[in-house]
Parts: sequence; C-alpha cells; structure tokens
Amino acid sequence: MRTKRIAVIASGRGSNFQAIIDAIKEGTVPATCIALITDNPKAYAIERAEQAKIPVIVIDYAAFASKKEYEQALLAAMQRVNPALFVLAGYMRIVGKEIVDAFSGRMINIHPALLPSFTGLHAQRQAVQYGVKVSGCTVHFVDDSLDGGPVICQQCVPVLDGDDEDALAERILAHEHRCLPEAIRLFCEDRLKIDGRRVRIR
Ligand code: GRF
Repeated sequence: MRTKRIAVIASGRGSNFQAIIDAIKEGTVPATCIALITDNPKAYAIERAEQAKIPVIVIDYAAFASKKEYEQALLAAMQRVNPALFVLAGYMRIVGKEIVDAFSGRMINIHPALLPSFTGLHAQRQAVQYGVKVSGCTVHFVDDSLDGGPVICQQCVPVLDGDDEDALAERILAHEHRCLPEAIRLFCEDRLKIDGRRVRIR
C-alpha cells in the first residue's frame, strides 16, 4: 500500500509522537512522517524527531506579540508542509478557526478522556475529582469546538480507588499509544468517512 504523508504537532514530551514513529517503523501504519511542528523550542519531542531524522519546524509561541501573529506563522508553516494529515499529539493550545478551516477533515487530536467528558486541560485530574470509575482516551477530528470534533476511536481505562491524577494519566497514556496509531492507520488506509457527527469506519 502507498504511504500517506503525515505531520505531527506537539508541545512537549512527545511520547505519542514516539508511538507514531515506532508504528510507522514496524510497518503497522502506512505513513511517512514528513515533519514535526512544535510551539515549544524546549520540547523533548524535538529530540525524538532528530533521532528519527524527521525535519523539525519550531514556531516559538513566546516569540510572537500576539496569538493572532503566532497562528498566522503556524498556518503558513502548515501550508508549506501540506501533508495528507496533521496529527495533534500533545499540542497544548487551542487551534484557531482559520487553521481548523484550512485543514478540515485532515487534522486529528488525541485527548486523555472519554469525550465528551472532561474537555480541556487536566482531563485526568477532572476524571479523578469527579469520581468516575471509567475514563480513557479519544482520537477525534478537529473542528472549531474545544475537543468536540467527530470521534474516530476511543479506549476505556478503569479508574482505581488509589488513583491520583498521575497514576491515571500513566494508565491512560499506554492506551493513547495504541489508539492514536490505530486512528492514523485507518485514515491512511482511506477507511474513515465523516458523516455528520459520526465517523464511519469502512
Ligand atoms: C497526552 O496525554 C495527550 O493526550 C495530551 O497531552 C499528553 C501528551 O503526552 N493532550 P505526550 O507529549 O504525547 O507524551
């Protein structure tokens, strides 16, 4: 099967990015990762990209006078890279409408909760504080709502009595590392069809 060109956008540690790199290397995801874009020049994800010989583009959020100027630079970089799919893998900012519109149906995100529960930051903390018995992770297409686009796949993770935010985050993360490559695989195999709120898997 021909591979699709994908690019990853990440802000930090990049363990999900690493899971993507590994899945491509193992041959389970028919993709070529053509760039890492990051808003954070100190992101550990940069080292992972360098190790895997993936080009890095840093759009340093702190170097811009406003969010608007930052987003314009980010959009320009994304248009230059122009992959079949952008994967937000631990990108810690809300994507502006112009970018969402430019890449509609071509941008996915991983969120560490079972959406629509616990949107936004600290989803694992929200789950522990709420007292749910089950949480998990969700991969979804990005639209202009907060963590609200059509859902591609989800995995459930139990919340145990002794869990704090960190323990739950670690357990969920192991599932993220399987769920995200799986969603990318389905996209790259042309098996995802957005049908209103639903994503049909062919
Ligand atoms: C993950 O839990 C992801 O779901 C969330 O931020 C975390 C990023 O982890 N959005 P990593 O950078 O992929 O290790």
